[in-house]
Amino acid sequence: MNTNNAQPNNIPQHVAIIMDGNGRWAKQRGWKRVMGHQNGIAAVRAATETAAQMGVKFLTLYAFSTENWQRSQSEVDALMSLLVDAIEKEVPELQKNKVRLLAIGNMQALPPKVAQKFERAIAQTAGNTGLTLIIALSYSGRWEIVDAAKRLCTKVLSKQLQPNDITEEEFARVLQTSAIPDPDLFIRTGGDQRISNFLLWQLAYTELHFADVLWPDFRREHFVAAIADYQQRERRFGKVNE
Ligand code: IPE
Ligand code: IPE
Ligand code: MG
Repeated sequence: MNTNNAQPNNIPQHVAIIMDGNGRWAKQRGWKRVMGHQNGIAAVRAATETAAQMGVKFLTLYAFSTENWQRSQSEVDALMSLLVDAIEKEVPELQKNKVRLLAIGNMQALPPKVAQKFERAIAQTAGNTGLTLIIALSYSGRWEIVDAAKRLCTKVLSKQLQPNDITEEEFARVLQTSAIPDPDLFIRTGGDQRISNFLLWQLAYTELHFADVLWPDFRREHFVAAIADYQQRERRFGKVNE
């Protein structure tokens, strides 16, 4: 596939990425898994810069899933401190590039220090008008849908809403992504072809691209290749294009 042939006029508005393969990247070098996570930061930077340069408006990165809490305590701890470090180091760069930071997921499940760092960075970048970078943290699609169902039940109990008024639009309004358009393009690195409980509701009509590269090696060329692949797709949304 030509990696330099993305067209400037058909850029996906929202790209969502499962950043997978850090552990394997480290293992290939005989290193501890955490080294893979550390080296994944450069790929996050490359993806964010490329997305902004190409005119993508929303970039969602899956950083930590609900299920990832079941990894060893040492790996979870290392990931949490890496998140704190990364946020601290990257905020000036986000400011410079006018990137607005958001987070989705169960922030209450995070160590307070991590949650506070994110809250602060989100507040600091709230006025930025460039790319919106959404980090999915302690996030899973099923968790989000159940959380949304609870909010709807509360609305019904308080008579703000009738059960018959629950439409897809109403449901989407209580999801964490209510202010974010559905992804146009999904990218997963690492070689596995699965969704792993990422944006289950939002991916309904997203184009899927699997990049044969481990996350720490993901760079501009892989992002451009994914966009070029997306631009070859015919999105029908169940209709007939004639
Ligand atoms: C993705 O890389 C990062 C997180 C899930 C936090 P992995 O840690 O899953 O790496 P592999 O898939 O084991 O290689
Ligand atoms: C998905 O990767 C979650 C993140 C990248 C944060 P996993 O490595 O956790 O997914 P599985 O276990 O391969 O499905
Ligand atoms: Mg993995």
